[in-house]
Amino acid sequence: MSVDRDLVLKVDNLQTQFDLGRRIVRAVNGVSFEVRKGRTLGVVGESGCGKSVTAHSILQLLPKLGHITNGSITYYADGKETVLSKLKKNGSEMRSIRGKEIGMIFQDPMASLNPVYTIGNQICENILQHERISKQEAIDRAVEMLTLLGIPRAASRLKDYPHQFSGGMKQRVMIAIAMVCNPRLVIADEPTTALDVTIQAQILELMKSMQQRLGTSIILITHNMGIVADMADDIAVMYMGRIVEFGSVRQVLGSPRHPYTKALLHSVPTLGIGKHERLATIRGNTPDPSDMPPGCEFAPRCDFATDACQTVPAETDLGGGHRVRCWNCQGG
Ligand SMILES: Nc1ncnc2c1ncn2[C@@H]1O[C@H](COP(=O)(O)OP(=O)(O)OP(=O)(O)O)[C@@H](O)[C@H]1O
Ligand SMILES: [Mg+2]
Repeated sequence: MSVDRDLVLKVDNLQTQFDLGRRIVRAVNGVSFEVRKGRTLGVVGESGCGKSVTAHSILQLLPKLGHITNGSITYYADGKETVLSKLKKNGSEMRSIRGKEIGMIFQDPMASLNPVYTIGNQICENILQHERISKQEAIDRAVEMLTLLGIPRAASRLKDYPHQFSGGMKQRVMIAIAMVCNPRLVIADEPTTALDVTIQAQILELMKSMQQRLGTSIILITHNMGIVADMADDIAVMYMGRIVEFGSVRQVLGSPRHPYTKALLHSVPTLGIGKHERLATIRGNTPDPSDMPPGCEFAPRCDFATDACQTVPAETDLGGGHRVRCWNCQGG
C-alpha cells in the first residue's frame, strides 16, 4: 500500500465554470495538482487564466454563478481524507476547515474585509471561531501577529476600521487573518502586490519561517516570477483554465518546455537589461474565455503552432514530475 503521508491536497481534473445566461466561461478546465506537507506550489499565468477561481474552488468560495462541474478536491489531515468538493458550501465541516485548516489570503483585501467591523474583531473572530481560548488571549494573538507583520502600535490599531488602514496595511490584516490559526495549508493569492518591496520581502520571510516551524504548505499565486523562484518548490503555469506546464522550480524555470512558459520568462524584466533593449512581449491577447479557439488555446499566439495544435494537446510526462501540454514538446 503506498499511502503518501505527505499529501495535503489533491486536485483532480477540476473544472469550474460560470454560467452567464447565454455565455459559459470555463474558468478552470481540467486542472490537476498535488500539494505536499511543507512545500510551496507557485501558480503563475497571465490575468484571467483561472488562478483565483482555482483557489476559490478549493475553499468553496465561488460566487453565485460559479460551479464546480467536474473533478474533485481532496484534503488530507491526520490520516483522514475529506473531499472538499462534495461538502456543503456553508456547512459546518467546510466552515471548520476554512480559516483553521486552510487559510486564504485574498487578492482583493478591500472586498474581503468587512467595513463595519474593527480590524481586531475580524482577526479575533477567526481565532475564536476555531479555538477555545479567552477573548483576551485572542486579542494578544492578534496583536502579536500584526506586530510580526510590521504594523506599528498594533494594540491600539486593533480598534480601527478597515477604511482607516492603507491598502498595504489591509493586505497585512488579510495575511494575519489567514495565518493566525496556524493552518496546515495557506492559499496566498497575490499576497504582496500592494506592498512595497521591503515589506514584501519581510512578509515572504515570515511565511517561510512559519513553513519551516510548522511544516505549513503554501499555494502561492503570483505574477512575479522572482517571488516564485525564491519561494516555490513546484510551479504550475496556467493558461486559459489549464495547467500547461508543471514541474519543480528547477525544471520549469531552468528548462521550460511550453512556448507559453518560455514567453512568460522572456517577458520578465531583469536588472541590468540595457535601457534600449526591449522586453519581449507575448503577441496578441488572451482569448475570450467564453469563446475559446478549438484545440490548443495558446496556438493563436504561439510561434511554433502547427496543424496538430487544432486538437487540444494531451499531457506529456517528461519524467521526474515535469509535465507539459504541447504537441511540440513531446519526447525527451
Ligand atoms: N464572478 C465571475 N463571474 C464571471 N466570470 C468570472 C467571475 N470570476 C472570474 N471569472 C472569469 O473566470 C476567468 C478566470 O478568472 P480568475 O479570477 O481566476 O483569473 P486570475 O488568473 O486570477 O487573474 P488575475 O491574475 O487577474 O487575478 C476569467 O475569464 C474571469 O473573467
Ligand atoms: Mg486572480
